Amino acid sequence: MKAPECLTLRPLRADDVATIATFADERAGEFGPGDLASELTRPIGRCFGADLDGRCVGYAVIWVIEEQADVINLVVDPRWRRRGVGRALFEYALGALRVDGVSRCTLEVRAGNVAAIELYRKLGFATAQRRANYYSDPPEDALVMHLALAR
Ligand SMILES: CC(C)(COP(=O)(O)OP(=O)(O)OC[C@H]1O[C@@H](n2cnc3c(N)ncnc32)[C@H](O)[C@@H]1OP(=O)(O)O)[C@@H](O)C(=O)NCCC(=O)NCCS
Repeated sequence: MKAPECLTLRPLRADDVATIATFADERAGEFGPGDLASELTRPIGRCFGADLDGRCVGYAVIWVIEEQADVINLVVDPRWRRRGVGRALFEYALGALRVDGVSRCTLEVRAGNVAAIELYRKLGFATAQRRANYYSDPPEDALVMHLALAR
């Protein structure tokens, strides 16, 4: 689905943290206020946000070391899922990384996370490896996915 026209994509800000805390599920590994506040000051951290009507409805946290990026967290407010927000936000983040000279993006995802895996495949990510029992609580394999970013 195409993202709503009023969607704004931008760097994440400190004042988004409280809004994100209203929808992020920390038990599922999504970031709480403390995690997000420290990501915003991490030197290798790149944090992006998506706004609808001035309210943050999604965020992405990516670590960048030289030409390599690792996706740490990508979350959309459950009330706004399946409307193109996640795809628009992640495409925006990948575009910003490309401009910064990043050539390769890697991520790990739960093997049963169909929504995320389908989104990543649509953006060109390919599965490179399966890591058995990588996650706990609940235990699950991880898929390691890669994307080469064209200059
Ligand atoms: C993964 C996530 C970010 C996707 O965000 P979203 O805004 O719902 O995704 P989009 O609407 O942009 O969907 C883009 C594509 O992804 C796939 N997709 C998204 N949700 C899906 C679902 N529930 N089932 C199957 N495919 C799905 C589809 O191919 C979709 O394209 P389509 O709508 O044209 O069919 C969101 O589901 C989420 O926040 N999940 C919880 C956190 C998480 O698991 N993050 C990823 C691991 S860090």
